[in-house]
Amino acid sequence: MAKELKGLVLSGGAGTRLRPITHTSAKQLVPVANKPVLFYGLESLRDAGVRDVGIVVGDTHAEIEAAVGDGSQFGLRVTYIRQDAPLGLAHAVLTAEDFLGDSPFVMYLGDNLLRDGIQDLVAEFRAGDADAMILLQRVPNPQAYGVAELADGRVVRLVEKPAEPKSDLALVGVYMFTPAILAAAKAINPSARGELEITDAIQYLIDQGLRVDPSEVTGWWKDTGKLADMLEANRLILDVLEPRIDGTLEGSTIEGRVVLEAGARLINSSVRGPAIIGAGALVEDAYVGPYSAISTGVVIRRAEVEHSIFLEDSRVEDIDARIESSLVGRGVVIARSEAKPRAYRFMVGDSSSIGLL
Ligand code: G1P
Repeated sequence: MAKELKGLVLSGGAGTRLRPITHTSAKQLVPVANKPVLFYGLESLRDAGVRDVGIVVGDTHAEIEAAVGDGSQFGLRVTYIRQDAPLGLAHAVLTAEDFLGDSPFVMYLGDNLLRDGIQDLVAEFRAGDADAMILLQRVPNPQAYGVAELADGRVVRLVEKPAEPKSDLALVGVYMFTPAILAAAKAINPSARGELEITDAIQYLIDQGLRVDPSEVTGWWKDTGKLADMLEANRLILDVLEPRIDGTLEGSTIEGRVVLEAGARLINSSVRGPAIIGAGALVEDAYVGPYSAISTGVVIRRAEVEHSIFLEDSRVEDIDARIESSLVGRGVVIARSEAKPRAYRFMVGDSSSIGLL
């Protein structure tokens, strides 16, 4: 008989690898093609037939709650679950014990993006008898992930971020579980980084002789926790964006796949897609090149940008050299100043990174 699955979305964590953006904001809300990365995951769960979703939140709970609300905008019923400290993914599962009850569930890490969604995988798990299902993908740097060792198509061993990986099969941040994972999460000990690892909890299931099915993900997958991955995810999503021009053009040209939201203005500028320019943004005497995501209210004037993500209300003015491969936070100003003496003047937050010519 088909089982109803709940969703468990993990949206806590410190986001240390995306500082300074995450000093003030949740990593799951950093936009990819102008939409918070978390929203893609919620939509994937909805499309896979999940209705009840628990979102585990930490310090950034207010911001996540403001963005997602009761979930009705996604066709979901959302319950928020507070995790007092980021003590690991298996710990997050335990904090959600009351919400999960005896239901099987899909656990989705809020900063993961899968091109093809999870519809087929959820259907496969629903129809089968596995105690858990893990998704895997071959990566060039397995030491940055949980790594699986398979033998004859069965999972024999899982290790979290091994220094010497035994395979190149990384654990994707989407897992399907029966309630057996709760007992496993209670049985394991914290890892060297002081966290209850979900990887260890799944290994415990295997050690107990329970069935953990692997499934290799063939479409692209991105964990957007780092700048390079975030820019790549942005590129991959922009590549399949439906072009749409709702904003206005004055003496400007658009080439290729471009979304210009309502209220966005191009004046004497040129935009070469794939690119998205958000509501109320202004691009004047400027060039916006491929793989740029320009958020609401951004101003780009007498400047050239490419392959970059600009968050809300940031401003770039009078820059001679092209800006590229950049992630610019909310309300940031990058502008030339005529003030004397001629000098660079910064007011830059902790952990910022600036590349000068
Ligand atoms: C977590 C998991 C890891 C998995 C990864 C996928 O790592 O611990 O096993 O491969 O997510 O995104 P984290 O991003 O928390 O370091």
